Amino acid sequence: MHPILNEVVAKGYVHLSGVATDTLTYAETLGEVFRAVKDEDPIVTMKIEGDDPMRTPYASCRTPALSLHTDYATFVEPPRFTVTHCIEPDPDFPLKGVSIVLLLRPAIDHLKVKEPALLELLRREAFPFRRNAEHNHYHKEVATYAILDGKDRVRFDRTLIVPYLERSEYADRAMLMDAVLRFEEVCSEHAERVEVALDRREVLIVDNRRVLHSRSECTARQGDGQLLSREVNLAFLM
Ligand SMILES: [Fe+2]
Repeated sequence: MHPILNEVVAKGYVHLSGVATDTLTYAETLGEVFRAVKDEDPIVTMKIEGDDPMRTPYASCRTPALSLHTDYATFVEPPRFTVTHCIEPDPDFPLKGVSIVLLLRPAIDHLKVKEPALLELLRREAFPFRRNAEHNHYHKEVATYAILDGKDRVRFDRTLIVPYLERSEYADRAMLMDAVLRFEEVCSEHAERVEVALDRREVLIVDNRRVLHSRSECTARQGDGQLLSREVNLAFLM
């Protein structure tokens, strides 16, 4: 494994500066790039462009702040690492558009000691992960996964689980929803929180199965006749 990725495994994340090469070239120097769809560009660009669904097709780009999540949580094998490469910092850098990383070890230790029944439930129960708001329209089945596995690897995104449960006929749905909300609370209260405001050409790499991440509110506004916004490229590694 590349020494930088070894550092990510040890620390949960790494923050680097001066990455001037293009995102894909850089990601390929680190390891095997994850491709969600074959033959498609594996780089995802996130640009905050205001509340305009036509110009900004991904819901997460339109959301002022993101909730805690694992990337590609609906995939059988989510990518191991997420590489965020800052192309254009937030116009209100370093106050806005801050990447947030929660290191879960203290949260899991809290569960072990104080809430073992919840820990057991997060490891045992099959939580449904819908792909998107139109999931039921396109898919009959929804994949189900535990939130924590036997090695304490995490797979989580409240926005994929709770809306599905709300509309489902799961017998245990109230219990599952409570568990999701409580887990999110425990993570917010007990995990070690790291905030990284990415400047131009800086990179944040997180261990996608060991931490949860999110992003604070971003700024999108017009200036000098053009849209000012934070723009990052995302690459994922196996
Ligand atoms: Fe993400």
